[in-house]
Amino acid sequence: MQTQVVVLRWGHRPQRDARLTTHVALAARALGATGFVLSDIVDNSLKKTMEQVKENWGGNFSFEMGTPWKKVVKDWKQKGGIVVHLTAYGENIQSSNVLNEIRALKKDILILVGSQKVPAAFYSVDISDFNVAVGNQPHSECAALAIFLDRLFEGKTLAAPFENAKKRIVPKKRGKQVE
Ligand SMILES: C[S@@+](CC[C@H](N)C(=O)[O-])C[C@H]1O[C@@H](n2cnc3c(N)ncnc32)[C@H](O)[C@@H]1O
Repeated sequence: MQTQVVVLRWGHRPQRDARLTTHVALAARALGATGFVLSDIVDNSLKKTMEQVKENWGGNFSFEMGTPWKKVVKDWKQKGGIVVHLTAYGENIQSSNVLNEIRALKKDILILVGSQKVPAAFYSVDISDFNVAVGNQPHSECAALAIFLDRLFEGKTLAAPFENAKKRIVPKKRGKQVE
């Protein structure tokens, strides 16, 4: 069975976070997540960008927006999935056993990432099954997500094909080739 790994981006401010939220969604897709939720807010420009990327570069990446984060989490848990909150204050992915614990459950994973300060409830046992730190220094949601996904999938998704792509990059030592 294919495990679902969906990224929920909370706290998006269209004027300020447009570029970074786009990068979080693109990184999620490219590194092997199966979907993205922009919670609580609608941003049609982001939706359009992600639709164009899917049209050109393929894959089955899902995109949802506007649903309140509490509903996304509740529905996810009801279907048996777990929730992983990425936060600098969590259990260190390198020095703790947290990643093995997550993997051992073999469940679908909803990954929460913030932008502005997240609601305190994100840290609670009611919401997050795991609070995971990609190092205990504050940095970027995009960097934290990329490293978490790369470790979760052990790099394998980086070489995975994307189905129904119109375009495919042919890796080369130099120059650019797109089929
Ligand atoms: C740039 S941070 C801003 C955090 C905000 N200023 C606060 O005080 O909570 C945005 C998001 O990046 C992620 N993040 C930043 N550093 C992280 C780390 N070391 N490990 C995991 N996630 C991290 C978290 O999801 C966080 O909500």
